[in-house]
Amino acid sequence: MDVRNEVQAEYIAVKALENGVTIIGLTRGKDTRFHHTEKLDRGEVMIAQFTEDTSAIKIRGHAVIYTKHGIIDTIVE
Ligand code: TRP
Repeated sequence: MDVRNEVQAEYIAVKALENGVTIIGLTRGKDTRFHHTEKLDRGEVMIAQFTEDTSAIKIRGHAVIYTKHGIIDTIVE
């Protein structure tokens, strides 16, 4: 993926609704590993992209996730 495509890659926004929400980047390719972990406190927002290195993103804790597919609240109903 070249730089132009990376900039245009899909992104998500995550808003933490509690302290200690964790965003984990999972590697693209045959191997699926954690390559980055980021902690957010309540009210913090992170905007993250899917890139050449990241094909999946895992989120732990209470958060709202905004994607082109819709808005997801991690609370189990
Ligand atoms: N390394 C895997 C890949 O690039 C990561 C992944 C993406 C994955 N989607 C998945 C792993 C679904 C399990 C299930 O495809």
